[in-house]
Formats: sequence, structure tokens, C-alpha cells
Amino acid sequence: MCGIVGYIGNREAYPVLMKGLHRLEYRGYDSAGVALINTNGQLNVYKAKGKVAELEAFVTDKDVSGSIGIAHTRWATHGEPNQVNAHPHYSESEQLAIIHNGIIENYAVLKEGLMKHGYNFRSTTDTEVLIQLIEYTKHTSQVDLPTAVQLALNQVVGAYAIAVLDRQNPNMIVAARKGSPLVVGVGEGEFFLASDATPIVEYTNKVIYVGDEEVVVLERGKEPSITTITNVKKTPEIQKLELTLNQLEKGGYPHFMLKEIFEQPQTLRTSMKGRVNVDANNIALSGFIDNRERFLNAKRIIITACGTSWHAGLIAMYAIEEFARIPVEVEYSSEFRYRKPVIHKDDVVIAISQSGETADTLAAIQLAKEAGAFIFSICNVVGASIPRISDSGCYTHVGPEIGVASTKAFTAQVTALTMLALCIGREKGTIAKEQYLRILKELDNIPEKISKIFHQNDRIADFAKIFTYAQNFIYLGRGYNHPVALEGALKLKEISYIHAEGYPAAEMKHGPIALISQEMPVVVIAPNCGTYEKIVSNIQEIKAREGKVIAIVTEGDTIVSNMSNFCITVPETEECLTPLLTVIPLQLLAYHIAVAKDRDVDQPRNLAKSVTVE
Ligand code: F6R
Repeated sequence: MCGIVGYIGNREAYPVLMKGLHRLEYRGYDSAGVALINTNGQLNVYKAKGKVAELEAFVTDKDVSGSIGIAHTRWATHGEPNQVNAHPHYSESEQLAIIHNGIIENYAVLKEGLMKHGYNFRSTTDTEVLIQLIEYTKHTSQVDLPTAVQLALNQVVGAYAIAVLDRQNPNMIVAARKGSPLVVGVGEGEFFLASDATPIVEYTNKVIYVGDEEVVVLERGKEPSITTITNVKKTPEIQKLELTLNQLEKGGYPHFMLKEIFEQPQTLRTSMKGRVNVDANNIALSGFIDNRERFLNAKRIIITACGTSWHAGLIAMYAIEEFARIPVEVEYSSEFRYRKPVIHKDDVVIAISQSGETADTLAAIQLAKEAGAFIFSICNVVGASIPRISDSGCYTHVGPEIGVASTKAFTAQVTALTMLALCIGREKGTIAKEQYLRILKELDNIPEKISKIFHQNDRIADFAKIFTYAQNFIYLGRGYNHPVALEGALKLKEISYIHAEGYPAAEMKHGPIALISQEMPVVVIAPNCGTYEKIVSNIQEIKAREGKVIAIVTEGDTIVSNMSNFCITVPETEECLTPLLTVIPLQLLAYHIAVAKDRDVDQPRNLAKSVTVE
């Protein structure tokens, strides 16, 4: 949540910063701001409520010159989203300015102390408290800015990625992080910093991932210097960035979300590359091979995640229990971390996170690690906090997911977890060889089968328009497709703002059936597998109450397709792989309903892509 970007070098900083903010807008977009030091030594701060475009409009007649600057796009935590609360924040004397991503939990105590020393506050943010504290420390301890930042951060409880400018020193940016991401780009005589590498990629492929509780000083004409907040010197580790500019553009699609839906055949091929080997009849996951004993000896697997990633975890529960015969518990990270869970040393804890930064999931695995469990993570963003603190893991490699609603990350997570379930099952001998080989071959066919579903995209777009009237939707599925029902409902909620609930189909009789009327669209996921007959009965119950049925069925289906008002087909596949196909029409349905309702598909209200606050 919140995106931060900074630049120091020979170019004009403003265009670099604005381009960076647009790239980071997925992290928050309720207000934005920029601070620049011009050649006269003035520190100019400009802020605007709303998206980055509002900030650009606001500064058209302002002085935005200078080759050093920092900028911010906000997702409000403390203080309403208005111009005053937008970052950057000045210190009392307006000598310093700060941008911040995270939460200072003990800001109230710190603020009280500073007020006693005569400090005044313009905003209601926790961030302003931090910059005042840095200034207070700098003056009272008579130290330079990097030391003041170190000393101040020692008093802070919470999470932060910050960057600080000092008008008296136009040659230096001081940045630091704990819990929130921070990447430094190292160019020729210039430095970039940002919440992720997307604002950096077009200038340099050399990056430094700043570690927790590290302070980095970027100074003109010098190498970057890193110390911990307790002043232990660190050697900056420069890594090569695996990201291309093309991956960050819409490539002719009207929205990133649609691009990312359509990318799935290719992203899944990439996720499986070097792992699913049909010719050798083998699945090779290095994270599993290197830690084989931990998995084989596990008495229990705990999966922890949030949102869409949690839905992928639910699907994994079906697969791991079916193929590996290890009991699985799937936990919301936010509940798990606070409910004093029983964790054993021989538990394997799997964290699933696209961003690798979700605060609750990070805290959940920290807790499990302290209890001695083995931590395995399934993440997309390379070098993010969750994979860094895990014992092992598996990257999904789907490239940057920019649409706030997760699509390609979800199918890759399900694929990775299915591969893991098959690997464990094969080693334990709990899956028959023929079944293992059948699923392995079929995994390889999934990308092509997804492409086939796209032929129905125009039809889905047409009938989506009919449902813009709906205030509510119900999604039903059973077995492997129960989590898909939850995921379909989440996609619709988050981008169209239509209320939607996902249920296991048979649960309907225990309450939700009371909601069924002519007005109620019910999406039923009914592929040709285990519980097909049962779901046919569930559809009859809906029809008897005049509900409108939108069915997802296997090609060649006649029974459900004849009973439903609208029908989308998916190719036949193994039952455990059906979620990879059935979720595609649901992603498209949510997308087209949102477009028909003229919603901001890529940046839906109140949401942010990377939830780095609790
Ligand atoms: C929904 C969505 C969110 C995320 C959740 C976890 O479309 O994107 O529900 O799945 O915030 O995020 P990660 O996977 O980054 O931990």
C-alpha cells in the first residue's frame, strides 16, 4: 500500500518521478505528491487529492525543476485521503521532507512527546510524526541526516519504507525500510529508489533490494552506502533485474486486467517450464527436491494466505489431501497470526502471496518460523519479503501483475500447488503412477485449453450487459470448484461493486436459498466431474425458485446447459485441474460486467494491490 519513488542524478527528476508514480499507482491512488530541490536550493512540495493525473494537473504552473526528488502515491491508513494528509510531509522547519509506505504504530506516543517540545502538526498522519522526530533528533543530537534517521527509526514501532530529503543537502537522499518493500536502482552517476522495480527498469537493470532495518544513503558521485539502524555497515549486493519494459505495458488491451487474463496460457507455460517434463514423465520442483524429507515427514501442512491467494490455498487443500494424503489446514493469515495457533516443528507451512509483501501473511510465517515449522512460499515477485524469510519456495514467474484484481497470479499459484501435491504424492507413493502421468500430461495441455475458452469472450461480453442491473450475485461450486465459486464472487465484488457470495452448492439449502428470486443471478460451476449429478439437483432447486442460472459446464454437456439461462463451456480435463479452466469465464464475466458498468477496472475504489498494512 502506497508507492514511493525517488531520484538523484543528472536528469530532471520530475518526469522520472511521475512516470514512476504511474507505474506504482496500483499500490494506492487516493492522493499523490512530489518534493523536489531546485538549483536555488528550494525544497518544493506539491500534493493533490486523487490520482497521479490530478497531481500532474495541479503542478502545471509550478516550478518542478531539480535533479533530486521524491514522490508518493497514497492508500490512506491514518488520516482521510485529502491534500494535507498526502505525502511528502515537511518537518516543522520545512527543511526536511519525507515519503512513507507503512504504519508507525506508536505514532501517538511519539507525537505527544514532540508536541511537548513545541512541534506542531499540519496533518493527521503517522508519517508527519516520523519526519518531525527525525528533525528533532537531528537538532538535539547534533548529527547528520543519516544518523538522525537511524536514531529516529530505533524509536519506531511499525513498518516503513521511507525516503527523506534535506534542503541543506541537495546531493543526498536517505532511505530506509522495515516490513515495506524498497528497491534501489543503480545507474551511471544516478540512483533511483522505489517500492518495486517497475519505475526503475527503463533506466537500469542493476538493483539493490534493501533489507529490513537498513538505511541506505544515495549521494551524488559516491557508491550507495548501507548500514542497519543500529549502525552496522553492510555491503550493498547489486543484483540483475529480470523484468522488461514490455511486461509493464497494456500491449493494445484496454485494461491490464484483460491483458493479464489473456496472458494466462503463456504465463502458465512459463510457470511450468523446466518443471513439468512430459517426455521424462516427471515434475521437478527444486524447492521440493531440496527439502524432500521435510515434506515427506510432515504430519500436517498449514497453508496461510489472504484473498485470492487464500482461494488458491483452498484448492491446494483438495489436491494435497487427495494425492499426498497429508492433512491440510487453510488459514486466513490475519486470523492465524492472532489466534495462538498450535504449530509443531514437523509442520510445513505454505505461504501463498502474489506480491510477497502482504503484511498479515508475512507476520503469519514469522510466527510459524519462531515455532520451528518449515516455511515454503509460493510467490510471484522475486526478492520480496515473504520469499526472503521463507526456508524454501517456488516462484510463479508470471511477470508483473498490475491489474488490482488478481487473475494470472491465481492460476499460476494453483498450478504450482498442484505440482507440489503431485511431487509429494509421487514420492510418498500415495498417488497411482497412471494417475500421476495422466495429470502431468494434462497439466501440459492446460494452456491450450485456456486459449480455447477465449473464443467465447465476445459472447460473455454481450450477456454481461444483461446483468448490470443486479444488486447481488450468488456463485456455487462443489469440491475443487467450491474455491472457484469464492474466487468468482470476489472478482465481481472488487471490480464491479456488485455484492456477490460464493457457497458450496449444497450449502444453499441451509440459508442462501431464501435469497433466490427472478432478480438473482446464480453462477453455477458444473464441470463434468465427481459431484455433477448433485449439482444438477442444486440447479433444479434454483430454477424452481425462478433464479437466473449462468452455468460453467464441460464441452458437450447437454443436461445443465439445457437448464441454464446462459452457458459457458470449458474443455474436458482432470478434475483437480478444472479450477484452472472454470475460473477463466468467471474472470471474463466479472471484467465485462465491470466495463459495462463503467467501473475503474484496473484500480477499483478502496483497493490496493499490495496490502502491506494489517
Ligand atoms: C483479489 C486480490 C487480493 C489478493 C490479496 C493477497 O483480486 O488480488 O485478494 O489476493 O490481497 O495478496 P497477495 O497474494 O499479494 O498476498
